Amino acid sequence: MRYLVAANWKMNKTVGETLEYLDRFLPSVKDLLSVDIMIAPPFTALSSASIRLDAAKKEGEYNVKLGAQNMYYVEKGAFTGEISPVMLNELDVEYVILGHSERRHIFGEKDDLINKKVITAVETGIRPILCVGETLEEREQGKTLSVVERQIRNGLAGVEKDMAFIDIAYEPVWAIGTGVNATPEQAQEVHRFIRSLINEISKGNDSNTRILYGGSVNEKNARDLIKEPNVDGFLVGTASLDPERFYKIITEVL
Ligand code: G3H
Repeated sequence: MRYLVAANWKMNKTVGETLEYLDRFLPSVKDLLSVDIMIAPPFTALSSASIRLDAAKKEGEYNVKLGAQNMYYVEKGAFTGEISPVMLNELDVEYVILGHSERRHIFGEKDDLINKKVITAVETGIRPILCVGETLEEREQGKTLSVVERQIRNGLAGVEKDMAFIDIAYEPVWAIGTGVNATPEQAQEVHRFIRSLINEISKGNDSNTRILYGGSVNEKNARDLIKEPNVDGFLVGTASLDPERFYKIITEVL
């Protein structure tokens, strides 16, 4: 399976900053085809990024895909402020991050809404990255695996047979944006659990599914984390905002 290294820019970068980033980043990953790379800018920059990426792909080989940070599960209608899969498809968006902890904890998204989005993403050909992870309180109460199990079983209900088209990101909430990453051992423990869970629910159809780690990944800890047998890539926030740092993380998984 090919590793996936994904950048989640969250609410950062204007259109201008996005294009400036791509001008610096793309030459560094030209012909780097052995790893899947995804960048998820804010919605407002997706169109410009898509055009820039398209132009680059006419000039050379790039394995860089676009991702969205969220989407709604309906094609169109009276849903003020939402973005539909049809709109993402038009921009050649190939991945969508769903159930990110900031969506769950700041915007109150629950498993059933996330599940509807995952189903729609699969149906419309956009590869979902389902994010799961426990809070510090849940970890301290020994609930890490049960929380992750609930988020995965509920999030994937009805699309278990489509597991090959879905990636998972394990992001412990206490590690996101804090500078305190899970240790490789902590990540491996949960990733191994997730692997066996998705293998069970998909009846063995999980060999294409990457289990990404996210939470304070940087150019210094990436190599040790990726050494773990069940860590198949990263979902990177802060360190992905700088093209040189993001590139360095990518080279650490090669
Ligand atoms: O989606 C990315 C994660 O939330 C990780 O963010 O790398 O800033 O900790 P971070």
